[in-house]
Amino acid sequence: MTQTPDRRTFAIISHPDAGKTTLTEKLLLFGGAIHLAGEVKARGQARRARSDWMKIEQQRGISVTSSVMTFERDGITFNLLDTPGHEDFSEDTYRTLTAVDSAVMVIDVAKGIESQTRKLFEVCRLRSVPIITFVNKCDREGREVFETLDEIADLLALDVTPMTWPVGMGGQFEGIYDLRTNKLLLPEGPSREFQGKVVQTSGLDDPQLDAIISPENLAKLREDAELALAGYAEFDGEAYRNGDLTPVFFGSALKEFGVDALIGALAEHAPPPHALPAEPEPVEPTRNEVTGFVFKVQANMDPNHRDRIAFMRLCSGTFKRGMKLTPTGHGKPIAIHSPIMFFAQQRELADEAFPGDIIGIPNHGTLRVGDTLSEKADVRFTGLPNFAPEILRRVALKDPTKTKQLRKALDDMAEEGVTQVFYPEIGSNWIIGVVGQLQLDVLLSRLEAEYKVAAALEPAPFDTARWISGDAAALKNFTEINRGAMAKDRDGNPVFLAKSAWEVGYVAERYPDVKFAATRER
Ligand code: G4P
Repeated sequence: MTQTPDRRTFAIISHPDAGKTTLTEKLLLFGGAIHLAGEVKARGQARRARSDWMKIEQQRGISVTSSVMTFERDGITFNLLDTPGHEDFSEDTYRTLTAVDSAVMVIDVAKGIESQTRKLFEVCRLRSVPIITFVNKCDREGREVFETLDEIADLLALDVTPMTWPVGMGGQFEGIYDLRTNKLLLPEGPSREFQGKVVQTSGLDDPQLDAIISPENLAKLREDAELALAGYAEFDGEAYRNGDLTPVFFGSALKEFGVDALIGALAEHAPPPHALPAEPEPVEPTRNEVTGFVFKVQANMDPNHRDRIAFMRLCSGTFKRGMKLTPTGHGKPIAIHSPIMFFAQQRELADEAFPGDIIGIPNHGTLRVGDTLSEKADVRFTGLPNFAPEILRRVALKDPTKTKQLRKALDDMAEEGVTQVFYPEIGSNWIIGVVGQLQLDVLLSRLEAEYKVAAALEPAPFDTARWISGDAAALKNFTEINRGAMAKDRDGNPVFLAKSAWEVGYVAERYPDVKFAATRER
């Protein structure tokens, strides 16, 4: 059994504009990983310049790529996996969530739980990923604190525990009170712009508070806090780690309020790497052999090279540079000579990685999303989903001599998880499926820029797809009768293409022996 160093591997889930980028910058700043706030964006821009297809994200002003950021504090290494916030890229985001042990949910104090936050939350719930809530932008006018807390509790069916409480909001914002430690966080400096000062009080009755906070805000704080302490569940670390309770922190990422408390909470309560679902049995992080799985593949980061980076989450063992790992089920052992490690500031550790860490493995297309890598090739991690596409399009090739290139391109992108591809049993019109519109633009632009294939996307006679399974006789019978709607995915799995969600229901009722799945685990 290996002793593993302390890790917190987490992601931030939020709706666009809630403040994820700002919070990320401040977490890195407070964690000492970078010395200038703003560097995250700057680095993002440099990365964007790298590849042609990324022009789309420039045009749309959104971030399509995700990456890994690492910071360290008090002996704990925090791995923050960036998830693209735009809803069109949710599939990629969902997969990233399979590689974390916990999540921070950022919500805008004025807007509450928004659609994208909710979707991402549901994915976390599927996997019982514990969530810490950060209510952002308290320096602006927002909703009543109780309203926010009750909305989280009602919409997400979670117990909530307020850990901190804003003292006033918007123009009246005076700071944040920590209900557990009785510390008051105050702005400091002539402009009173940023959190700078911490006053330890003996509790809400402490007379010090009268000298610091305006009478109106103080009266309200005392009243609200009393009600809150009586009305909401007490913090229970186990309930949080089971995904049943979310501790709620208030703050302002922009003004740096509450960021420190958030890191503290991650350190104190968020789970370190634990056993992950796998066959034949779950893999404990203390297992000696190195195991991990690929949750993301990014291809052609440099348009001049057909290189890919497979992002692997390490699940057990101590990874060392040069080590040989075997992808379960296919391929020979791969010697990983030049892994990309993400903790640049810790040079002495750069040759080793531990459970919870992410390693980037350069390869030429051998590694795919969902692959398990291990020393003995005797395990397979389960639960990395493929989602039923919500938009299907027929790919029409402008130059018929490029069929081979098109197939390669579609296979490559399916492999990366950018789009899905379906090869119908009848006819030669390949169909691609995506979860969001933006993926279509990415596909066309990459076909042209990277594969020199000019193609157009036409409406497909289908609206959605389901992976089918069942015993051989039932499948054969179903396939024969519905041949015109049958296709194979990139891995050769049978897929039923349906004209509508209604048709899926109808067909499922008529063929009770066949299972129709909207997600496919790899
Ligand atoms: P996102 O990644 O979740 O999409 O959000 P991002 O951090 O980019 O923040 C969205 C906007 O909200 C930005 O303003 C940002 O400055 C602002 N913001 C983030 N946190 C806070 C906060 O705690 N308080 C206040 N008042 N504003 C906050 P922007 O004007 O759209 O962009 P920028 O030009 O400032 O970058």
